[in-house]
Amino acid sequence: MVLEDILGRVDAIITSNTHINEVLLDVCKLLAEKVEHYDWVGFYVLNTATNKLELGPFVGKPTEHTAIPVGKGVCGQVAQNKQTMIVQDVSKMDNYIACSIEVQSEIVVPVLKNNAFVAEIDIDSHAPAPFSSFDVTLLEAICAKLSNLF
Ligand code: SME
Repeated sequence: MVLEDILGRVDAIITSNTHINEVLLDVCKLLAEKVEHYDWVGFYVLNTATNKLELGPFVGKPTEHTAIPVGKGVCGQVAQNKQTMIVQDVSKMDNYIACSIEVQSEIVVPVLKNNAFVAEIDIDSHAPAPFSSFDVTLLEAICAKLSNLF
C-alpha cells in the first residue's frame, strides 16, 4: 500500500471514531497490517504529573514496559528531544529498553502539540535495518494528523 493510501485511511479513521483511544488503536492495526516490517506498533502518552510515558493502545505482544521515565530508552529519549529516532540495530544501542528478544530495530516518532511533546508512536521490527525515509515521512505525517486529538 502506498503512503498516500495509508494517510487517506488515517483521515477516515480520525473522522469515524469518537474516542481518541479508538483512533489510536485503529491506526496501530492499520500500520501493523499494511507495513510488512512493523511487528509491534503502539503509542506512549506523556503523563505530565509523573513525567513518565504511559503505554496506550498497541498491537503486538504485550509488554511489561507500561510506564517509561522521560530520558530512558529510545522512547524516553524521543520524549526529551522531540525528534524522530531510528535505531537500525538495537544491539548497538546503550540507552535501550528491550521488550522482546525478536526485536532487531525500532523507530519512534513524537506527537507534538504547540511544539510540546504529548505522545509518540513506537514501532518495533524483527527485521534488521528496515527503516527508510518512507517510514519517517509516513509516521511524521500521521503524528501531525493525530496532534489535534490531544
Ligand atoms: N524499546 C523501547 C521500549 C518500549 S518497547 O519497544 C514496546 C525503548 O527502548 O524505549
